[in-house]
Formats: sequence, structure tokens, C-alpha cells
Amino acid sequence: MSAEAPFFIGRVAVIGLGLIGCSWIKGLRVRGCVGEIAGFDRNLDSMQEALRLGLIDDFSAELGPVVAGADLIIISVPILAIRGVLEDMAPHLAAHTVITDVGSVKGSVARDVADVLGADFNRFVLGHPIAGSERSGVAAADENLYVRHKVIITPQANTDKSALRLVRRAWRAVEADVETMSVEHHDEVLAATSHLPHLLAYSLVDTLANSHENKEIFNYAAGGFRDFTRIAASSPVMWRDIFSANKQQILKTLDLFSHDLSFLRAAIEQDDTTTVMGVLTRAKVARDHFSKILARRAYVEPMKTASVTYIASPAGSLKGSFRVPGDKSISHRSIMLGSLANGTTEVTGFLEGEDSLATLQAFRDMGVVIEGPHRGRVTIHGVGLHGLQPPPGPLYLGNSGTSMRLLSGLMAGQTFDVEMSGDESLSKRPMGRVADPLKLMGAVVETSDGGRPPIKVHGAGKLKGIHYDLPMASAQVKSCVLLAGLYAEGETTVTEPAPTRDHTERMLKGFGYDVQVDGNKVTLCSGGQLTATAIDVPADISSAAFFMVAASIAEGSDITLEHVGINPTRIGVINILKAMGGNLEVLNEREVGGEPVADIRIRSAKLKGIKIPEDQVPLAIDEFPALFIAAACAEGETVLTGAEELRVKESDRIQVMIDGLTALGVQAEGTHDGAIIQGLGHDGLLSGGEIQSHGDHRIAMSFSVASLRASAAITILDCANVATSFPGFVDLANNAGLELDVLTVK
Ligand code: S3P
Repeated sequence: MSAEAPFFIGRVAVIGLGLIGCSWIKGLRVRGCVGEIAGFDRNLDSMQEALRLGLIDDFSAELGPVVAGADLIIISVPILAIRGVLEDMAPHLAAHTVITDVGSVKGSVARDVADVLGADFNRFVLGHPIAGSERSGVAAADENLYVRHKVIITPQANTDKSALRLVRRAWRAVEADVETMSVEHHDEVLAATSHLPHLLAYSLVDTLANSHENKEIFNYAAGGFRDFTRIAASSPVMWRDIFSANKQQILKTLDLFSHDLSFLRAAIEQDDTTTVMGVLTRAKVARDHFSKILARRAYVEPMKTASVTYIASPAGSLKGSFRVPGDKSISHRSIMLGSLANGTTEVTGFLEGEDSLATLQAFRDMGVVIEGPHRGRVTIHGVGLHGLQPPPGPLYLGNSGTSMRLLSGLMAGQTFDVEMSGDESLSKRPMGRVADPLKLMGAVVETSDGGRPPIKVHGAGKLKGIHYDLPMASAQVKSCVLLAGLYAEGETTVTEPAPTRDHTERMLKGFGYDVQVDGNKVTLCSGGQLTATAIDVPADISSAAFFMVAASIAEGSDITLEHVGINPTRIGVINILKAMGGNLEVLNEREVGGEPVADIRIRSAKLKGIKIPEDQVPLAIDEFPALFIAAACAEGETVLTGAEELRVKESDRIQVMIDGLTALGVQAEGTHDGAIIQGLGHDGLLSGGEIQSHGDHRIAMSFSVASLRASAAITILDCANVATSFPGFVDLANNAGLELDVLTVK
């Protein structure tokens, strides 16, 4: 692609010498993009100052000479003054002159242009830079005011293409990010995001200033008042014009706000603290999210997610006793069932990772009041099986396959439509496996190309129970069908080809729901209710697995992992490591809230390669990346079969692990359903090198552990997603004895 020629414009006229117009021309001038600039302002002082500062080359008290011969006219006056300016300049416009403005309302300007210059006039390009400053006037002009700020252009059907291009390029020349919108959409969005907040700020200050205690109020007005009302110090003329020019849209958004304010007022009056808490928690989450977006933009930095690289250096042995974060599968389910229960569910040990938080946010979006999480504590004010409300937009589920698949089942039973989407990795994962059985139940489900997300689930359909033979061993698909079964007529049965994690069944029972388990068959009927309960989430055995492997391969290690969930459907990693000669002891076994828990002591051992029994595969499905590292450090060959599911996890875990191991000097090959790995033996070392984790959290953590048996540092790319399942991994690993450094590039 060839680069655009440098931008240059011969003559610019700027009408209204305020901060906005002057910053644009200063930016153009400093960057050498403009020949001559003529200025006009009602105020002679402003014109003289602009001339003195070199922002303009000439001015006049009449509009005619200023606009004559201009290639571009920038109108930068209050909205209601634009009509008069157009009338005055109309007789002086050259045939080629392009005009633009910078006003906060576009509909009224479009009407003025059509009235004054004629409906056919096609060289007026409506624009609006989203930038400003508390400072105003010529002296405040800043050539970098628009750098990486959004400028919205609202072209109309007849707007001349070359005029549009000129204005776009003039904005891009001062390094603005130009976006396009329709006039109507612009005015609607700005009414909500800018006009309403200004209206409220002016109104609040006025109310308080008129109150008889105003002296006290203003004397003691601390941060809250100051922060909320800062914008009430803006120009009254400008804002009077905006409120009047965008009247309809502002009234619409004001009505919505008044309605919600009355709702909050009523909740306070009636001591309805749950509703109040709902408003406050939802608002806080939204505001925190927004702050992050703003911080990322930072007005100077490119809009890019941070890229995280780990440098894992060879280290000694692991020591200590510690607890890894809460179980991801159980955390997801605690939010789902807690939300659908009657009463208040208290969760402790909740995993504050991005995946389970995505589920939490989805239920907040559907009207459930959820307090926390705070140090693993979450309080869920259940709405009952039929109490969810339609979310305001699509549910965004990030990296989390569990959220999307389980929610698909639940959503099929609702009376409203829901769309669910995810990040790049989730967007590649198969959803046909949940859509197919749901369709058999009578649900209307649409997936995108190749059965991938986004997925749309239509509500209001009547579901009927089915007997479903799972085509693959998948707890997510099993759970999806069972959760849809809560809403389906009659009986829903799922038969699985091999045992998979049974947290859904256990937790449903914990919430008092009748679930029949008979061998590999699970059955439930609709019509029951969930009753709120307390849930203590054990530490996640899938997170513990990294340390089980780490302590096994690093000579002289002795660690104890506390309070680990040892549900029989999850303990494949313990069984496999033991079969490889690992030294693991399961201590202090107990049951907590329907889930077995234990402390696990691991000491280093001389591992040997094995043929992994296929019946262990579903019981260790998430632990194979870590187990591949154990196999690479063992004596002899390890063979894995029956694990084709690994190819459709957060990455193709067979391929990505084989590529990584090969890069570190291990002989390993992938097969369609597994891998064959030649261990380096007890004295063998992996080489250092660079690993691409493909954004897969478990790949990143596995190669971190591999560094314990490497001769040089391993650089692991794309590790940000470790936060999906294991927040605090690096600190915990370093405290235990690993040597991890993190490089973050924004
Ligand atoms: C999970 C089930 C498993 C597992 C995933 C969590 C669950 O997926 O890999 O990390 O919470 O039900 P599949 O159901 O696809 O096997």
C-alpha cells in the first residue's frame, strides 16, 4: 500500500478564535500543513492576540475578506451563532471552498446549512472533535490537543467525497483518530455522554447554591461535589446553545435518567438495600471498566491491550505450604446457581480470575445483584429460576468457554433473546456441540460460521426434555443440557461416554434440586426450585497441577498445597504423576460443601515415562500441558492417546506443546489424539529458548515450570491470559522458588 502524499492546504479561514479552532490551526501550522490562515472573531483582542502569536496571518472585522478564496473554512462558534455566520459568508464563498464546523450537536447545524446555503450544498462537512480543556481562548491553543483524540465526522448522503477527504485529512494531519457516524446517532450518543452530565452538573450546583444553607454546603464541599460539578464551570452560552439545539435527544435521555433516579429514590425510601446495592455495584463495575479504557487510551498511548512476556530462569527447589486460587469450574457454577436460587448465597474462596468474573458480569447484566468479589467473598442475591432480565446488549465472555457453553443451556430456557461473544481464542472454539442438543430440545440457537461464536439463543420457545448421549466426554456439554433441563418439559437425561467433572450435579443437589445419578446417566426434571446456600470453593486442582509437576521435577523440593479440591472426576493428574513415580501424598481428606478436599504434599522424584491410561484422560483434561513437562523430564517415553479434545481448548494444546517442547530440545511428536514424548532423563536438561503460548494460560504456566529443569532462561510470549484462571501466579510461583520476571508492554 502506498503512503498518502503529505497533507498541505493553501488557505484556511477560521471563524471564532477559541481553544478548539485555534488548536486545530496551530496543529496544522506547527506540522507545516498549511499556507496562509485568516481569522475572524467578534472580539478584536482575540484577533490581535492570534496574529501576535503567529496563529493567523491576517484578520478582518468583516467576514467577507476572511473567507474569500479559502480552501477550507473552519467554523468554531457557539451552535446557535452558526446560522448567522453562514448567512454572512454565503455571498463570499468560492466554488471550491469546503466548510466544516466543530459543534457538539450535528442535527441543528445540518438544518442551518440546508436553510442558508441550500439543500444541494454538498461541501459542508459536519464534524465534532471530542476534546477540550478547562482552559479557553487563543492563548490556550495547543497544537497537540487532538493527538489520539476522537474526531467524529457525520457525512450526509450528498456530502461531496473530496470535501470529506479534505476534512478527514486535515484532522488526521493533527494526529486525531477520525471516526464516522450518522448525524442522528451522533446527537443521541452525545446527549447521553456529554450533554446530560453537563445539564446535571449545572442543575446540582444551582440547586445547592439556591438553598438557604448554601454557605455551609460550599464551605464543606469536599471531593464529591468538586468532582461531580467541575464541568459546571464551562461556558454558559455554549451550553445554552447545545441544550437548545439537541433538545429532543437531551429530553429523551433526561427522562430515562429521571425514571432511574425515582427508582433509586423509592428504594432508599423503602429501605430496599438490595436494590440500592444493585445500582451501586453495577455502576461501580461499569465505571471501573470505563476507567481502564480511559487509562489505556491515556491520550498519548496507542489503544492496545498489554502484551505480557514471562522470562523464566533456571531456579533451585520448591519449598513451602500454600494455597492456590479457587476452582474455576466451581466458581462459575456458584454464580450461575446462586443467581437462579431463591435467597442469598454466600460464596467464599471464589476465583477472582477473568473467566469466572465474565460469568459474574453476565449475571449482573441480567439484573442479578452480586456483591464483591472481595478477597474471594461473593454475595449473590438470587432472583429465582425465572427472575433474570434481558441484558442491555450482547454478553461478552472473554476467553471463557465454560461461561459460553453453560450459559447457552440456561439462556435457552429464558423468555428473552441473548447474544454471546468472546475474544479471539473463544471465537475459534466449537459451539455446535452445545447448539445441537439444545436444538433437539426445541431451542432456537444460531451459531456463526463453522459453529463458532458469536452464538445467539432465542428465548420464549418451549423446551422439551431429551435423553442425550454425549458424543464426547465433556462436562460443559453435559452441564449445558442439564441446565436447559431445568426449564424443559419432562425429564432430561444425559449419558456420558466417560466420567467427566460432576460439579454441576453436586451443586444442584447442594441447592436442594433433585438430580438422579445412575452410573454414567444423570437425570433431572423441571419444576423444582433452587434454594440459596453457602459455598466454600476449594483450591483449583488444575492450578495446583503446575506446582505438583514443578515440585516433582525440581530436585530437593518439598511443598504442601492446601485445601485442594480432590473430586474423583478431577484427580487424573495425581493418578498419572503417581504412575510416573511421583511422590505425592494426599493428606487430611475432608468434605466441604459437597466437594472432597485435601492437602497434598509433593516431593521431588525420579519420574519415568508411561503409557497414560485412557480412562484418566477426561479426569486430567486441563492438566496435560503441565503433564507434558513432567514427561519431558522423565526417563523414557510417555505416550498419550484418546485426548483429541486437547485440540479444541484455549489453543490446540497438542500442537502448541509439541512446538514448545521441540524448541527446547525435546524429541516430541503430536498424533491426531495425543502425543509421544521422549523424556530427557533424570539428569537431562531442556535448553532455553522462546515459546509462543498463543494466549493460552495453561501453556504459559507449564513452560514457566519447565524452567526449573532448563539450562538457560525460557522466554514465554503472550502470557496475559494467565489472569483468566490464576491471578497472582507469578508472585506465588516466585515465593515457592521459581524465578519468573514479567515484561509488560502496553
Ligand atoms: C470444564 C470442563 C472441561 C474443562 C474446562 C472446564 C467445566 O471442558 O476443560 O476447563 O467447568 O465444565 P470440556 O467440557 O470441554 O471437556
